[in-house]
Amino acid sequence: MNPDKYKKQKKIFKKAYALGDKRLKAGYGWPLEVDAQLVKFFGYIKKSLSEGNVLDLGCGQGRHTIFFAQKGFNAYGIDYVKRAVDEAKQSAKEKNLKNANFKVMDAFKLDFPKNFFDIIIDWSVLGHIKPEDWNIYLKNILNALKTKGFFILAEFSANDLRIKNKTRNFFEHENHYDHYFREDEIKDLFSKNFKIISMNETMLIQKPDHLMLNVLMRRKK
Ligand SMILES: C[S@@+](CC[C@H](N)C(=O)[O-])C[C@H]1O[C@@H](n2cnc3c(N)ncnc32)[C@H](O)[C@@H]1O
Repeated sequence: MNPDKYKKQKKIFKKAYALGDKRLKAGYGWPLEVDAQLVKFFGYIKKSLSEGNVLDLGCGQGRHTIFFAQKGFNAYGIDYVKRAVDEAKQSAKEKNLKNANFKVMDAFKLDFPKNFFDIIIDWSVLGHIKPEDWNIYLKNILNALKTKGFFILAEFSANDLRIKNKTRNFFEHENHYDHYFREDEIKDLFSKNFKIISMNETMLIQKPDHLMLNVLMRRKK
């Protein structure tokens, strides 16, 4: 993959974080609070797993990395925007969490030992990657995740009103790519390597017409 391919998109994320507390109002709408659906998925996971290593891919300001650290996991958050990572580090420091680790890193260049993670979370990163690169992304996940490890994914849904009745389920605007997932796309990409435990839709609180497709999977082999 051309290393410059997502350079302009990275600039847009950088711009979003540079807005500080005005980010949400400006329409870069991923919240700061832990998502209720992630908590529900954790409720399932904790029946079989109470400790281990968790990777939060594209962690932003670290809300979900911190959640898993507070639950006693060794949590690692990576994001390619330094400001987001710095804010996540600060937030973990204020909470006195020693087991929340943050690093500036690209999801396409993960630098962790093979099969290191028991859980990987992607809360709205894959949707910004173009379908022709999904297999490279998947290879990275499979390299980092243990057999029987859990994978949590949350992306825009193709039932989102912004895409409803359109002929395509993606938009590209000023080099920013947004993919709105259909259930069959999730199954096609993941079901060879993962058992899909749960797939459901939720509404993003701030904008009731924005729908998320949330998936909990477990690696088969
Ligand atoms: C929609 S935001 C979600 C942030 C976080 N997961 C959350 O839910 O709060 C997407 C995040 O993915 C990061 N991101 C996108 N592509 C990335 C990549 N290739 N490597 C690392 N981070 C990436 C962005 O910087 C941004 O912080």
